[in-house]
Amino acid sequence: PDIASRVEEIIADHAALEGPLLPILHAVQAAFGHIPRDALPVIADKLNLSRAEVHGVMSFYHDFREDQAGRHVLKLCRAEACQAMGADRVAAHARGKLGIEWHQTTQDGAVTLEPVFCLGLCACGPAAMVDGKVVGRVDEARVDELLAEVR
Ligand code: FES
Repeated sequence: PDIASRVEEIIADHAALEGPLLPILHAVQAAFGHIPRDALPVIADKLNLSRAEVHGVMSFYHDFREDQAGRHVLKLCRAEACQAMGADRVAAHARGKLGIEWHQTTQDGAVTLEPVFCLGLCACGPAAMVDGKVVGRVDEARVDELLAEVR
């Protein structure tokens, strides 16, 4: 089925909820692996919102991606406690090593790099998440190891 009709089905499934936008976005992402650009106007239209409003919510939550992710997703914590432990340095290293910026995927489709805001591992920062698994005390060498494991 085309994107619009699948999205319409998802919206119909959530129509009775009080705040349907977030559950709908989560369901769309679960169905497609990302939020397809064509889904936005459908969601906006059905919920009586502007596209900018839907897009604003998507970017606020950082959980939603606009493009298909790579085979592996590396998330690095950008929140305060991890920053104090050197998260910026680790992030710069990861971006350099992968040759991509936040939210981008390497050319070979192997790794997507995403920022995340607190993984609940603040006591052992900098924290990261690789394919849903949290990792603490990530330094430059650990980033190299993690990437070597997935590539
Ligand atoms: Fe990074 Fe909490 S601030 S895990």
